[in-house]
Amino acid sequence: MSDTTGTGAAPAPLGTGGPGPMVRAERVHKSFGLVEVLRGIDLEVRNGEVFCLVGPSGSGKSTFLRCINHLEKINAGRLWVDGDLVGYRQKGDKLYEMREREVARRRRDIGMVFQRFNLFPHMTALENVMEAPVQVKGKSRKAAREQAERLLERVGLADRMRNYPAQLSGGQQQRVAIARALAMEPKLMLFDEPTSALDPELVGEVLDVMRQLAEEGMTMIVVTHEMGFAREVGDSLVFMDAGMVVEAGSPREVLTNPQHERTRAFLSKVL
Ligand SMILES: Nc1ncnc2c1ncn2[C@@H]1O[C@H](COP(=O)(O)OP(=O)(O)OP(=O)(O)O)[C@@H](O)[C@H]1O
Ligand SMILES: [Mg+2]
Repeated sequence: MSDTTGTGAAPAPLGTGGPGPMVRAERVHKSFGLVEVLRGIDLEVRNGEVFCLVGPSGSGKSTFLRCINHLEKINAGRLWVDGDLVGYRQKGDKLYEMREREVARRRRDIGMVFQRFNLFPHMTALENVMEAPVQVKGKSRKAAREQAERLLERVGLADRMRNYPAQLSGGQQQRVAIARALAMEPKLMLFDEPTSALDPELVGEVLDVMRQLAEEGMTMIVVTHEMGFAREVGDSLVFMDAGMVVEAGSPREVLTNPQHERTRAFLSKVL
């Protein structure tokens, strides 16, 4: 089944930063042991778009995001981010697996925000946002602090910079997590149910920050159950079930006029 390392006809390179899509998946398969979790995902995320991914629990949404930044290795198919094959280097028509170092370097260009904020508990909001630019990118502390202050202002936390995570609400912690991801100046942001661990009254402030990011032109893949957000802010929406794309289109189209019974059944539960 695997053709990831094969020499099948490779499409023309898409070109970094060029007009090609930010993410392209072709027949992406992923198994854990005998369980096939992704069963041939085909999709394309354009530069600058907000791409919403919805589907029932266990359908493979998080796994797919983890494949995009190579936290999981795909078993078959091809996956490109900004024109580069994820985890492989192409020479002529041969593919070579990348070293972990190189994988890690590519991963820096992709920001990820999880349901659980995973902030460092012993660091203030400011220190959390400064950490990776200083440690990973070698930025000076002064430059990293200035950048972190700007980012925390941007997510509405100018008055909370010196607070530790335990002194912040869930919504505030999630906004710090977004600022922390942005501090690496990513070209793509992945959000995995960023609001589903939050009390309902805190969801809006996080969605507002994401809406603002979208307006600024950030390319975003958002796994969410917030259909209002998907409809208002999303450019595309994909409904996944059992490791396959069941339906794709504009959020308005898919949400108001789903074509498949499985999509209708899912939407009737979350809308
Ligand atoms: N590391 C792993 N080892 C074994 N099975 C896994 C692993 N990660 C995920 N799975 C399985 O893969 C399937 C898809 O999981 P995934 O987390 O991608 O679903 P999801 O769509 O994100 O679901 P949810 O909405 O609950 O977050 C599940 O059946 C899960 O148990
Ligand atoms: Mg998930």
